[in-house]
Amino acid sequence: MHTSASLSLVHSAEPMNDHESKAALYEQLRGSLQTLMRGQTDFLANISNFAALLFNSLPNLNWAGFYLLRGNDLVLGPFQGKPACSCIAMGDGVCGTAALQRAAVLVPDVHAFPGHIVCDEASQSEMVLPVFKDARLVGVLDLDSPQQGRFDETDRDCIQGLLQSLMEGTTVPEFRLAPPSPRC
Ligand code: SME
Repeated sequence: MHTSASLSLVHSAEPMNDHESKAALYEQLRGSLQTLMRGQTDFLANISNFAALLFNSLPNLNWAGFYLLRGNDLVLGPFQGKPACSCIAMGDGVCGTAALQRAAVLVPDVHAFPGHIVCDEASQSEMVLPVFKDARLVGVLDLDSPQQGRFDETDRDCIQGLLQSLMEGTTVPEFRLAPPSPRC
């Protein structure tokens, strides 16, 4: 069991421009995530803290959170930021596209993405990553920024690594998982 006093959130005063400073920040986040998850495998507890950790540690975010698979829809899960649309159909918007394609989607300018769903007028760029447990889709992680072009491949790769650690240490109820993909 840990207390919040044992966790120091990472705050970056300077905008990050280069790969090295980002990599250093994400390395610190990896340690913070381990601390947060120590002795805790509960799904909602861990993904709630994950959203809060990213929102409070990464510069230039106005929204960070999860949409969770429910049948063929994505339903709003734990998040930080303004209230958001509560349900997104598979294939709709950036979130539904990432879920359908089982792939990360980086959107440098949300106004240029056909079908982008506006939840917060402040959002200018967005990154959505699929979340998997044992190769089965659980939902997506959505990050929004008020700055155009906020997310790059370093953010994508490092946050994918954090998500993998998150899911490895988390018990996901069966009803939250997409059916296993048929084997060929
Ligand atoms: N912009 C997203 C919708 C979710 S909000 O940004 C929180 C999309 O197009 O799927």
